Amino acid sequence: MSDTLQLGTYELTEAHFERVRDLLYRLCGIVLRPGKEGLVKARLSKRLRALGLPGFADYLALVEGDSGGEELSFLVDSMTTNKTSFFREGAHFVFVTECLLPCWERQGRVRLWSAACSSGEEPYTLAMVLREHARIPPRLDVRILATDISTRVLEQARRGQYSADKLQDVPAALRVRHFRPVDASEDGGPMMELDPEVRRMVGFARLNLMDAWPMKGPFDAIFCRNVMIYFDKQVQGKLINRFHDLLAPGGHLFIGHSESLTGIVHRFRYVQPAVYLR
Ligand SMILES: C[S@@+](CC[C@H](N)C(=O)[O-])C[C@H]1O[C@@H](n2cnc3c(N)ncnc32)[C@H](O)[C@@H]1O
Repeated sequence: MSDTLQLGTYELTEAHFERVRDLLYRLCGIVLRPGKEGLVKARLSKRLRALGLPGFADYLALVEGDSGGEELSFLVDSMTTNKTSFFREGAHFVFVTECLLPCWERQGRVRLWSAACSSGEEPYTLAMVLREHARIPPRLDVRILATDISTRVLEQARRGQYSADKLQDVPAALRVRHFRPVDASEDGGPMMELDPEVRRMVGFARLNLMDAWPMKGPFDAIFCRNVMIYFDKQVQGKLINRFHDLLAPGGHLFIGHSESLTGIVHRFRYVQPAVYLR
């Protein structure tokens, strides 16, 4: 391979590419496979242009010196997907209502964590499901913590507004009860806003899963779905064991259906696909 890659107006050298890979892995646990030079180049060139930077070296210096994590968050956004949806992998929410909710109601309170919540559809689905099926308040005191590394998606999540076509997997009855139309989006499409009562059940915060976690737990369930695909087995193993420590005995871990704990030494018991018990 040549030692520089001439793609478009910015020059991405192999050394730049290695630094991007190193940064993503070291700071966020994300593995960028060799051969993704074109992707890095294409996705980041726009950002360099927007920031008025002359080249990748300047951009990397900016990310490395960015103590607030804003630019790192942008880099992660560029290299990963924030794809999510309401009621994604719906079997999990059936399991929550049928198998977990009766026990949570008996204990009178439930604490949940949506780790890597993206634009909020996952924690809001949990909130809607609990609101529908449990008599709250006073029967069930619910708090849902929702975190992500990306400040951009967290802003969207806090706004609680979604284009109407994002609501296609929300059952009709819940759509009617929990959403109301608001002013059209910038592209003119219809927008729906989630009921403030449901939104109040969820607290959003920025958190890089690789950093120290300020919360003490214990949680009754942790949802960490469709983010471990970016991590290697070593990083996954550490994360899974940290989740175990933060769950209450009898608490559940939910992972994405395309993810697996195979090859990881852990203390969970398998319950059903993508559901584990502490
Ligand atoms: C595909 S979305 C998953 C959203 C949701 N959990 C779901 O399953 O629909 C992956 C999310 O992981 C977040 N992410 C990636 N690396 C992260 C890290 N090190 N710490 C926290 N969040 C991270 C991304 O910002 C993105 O929003």
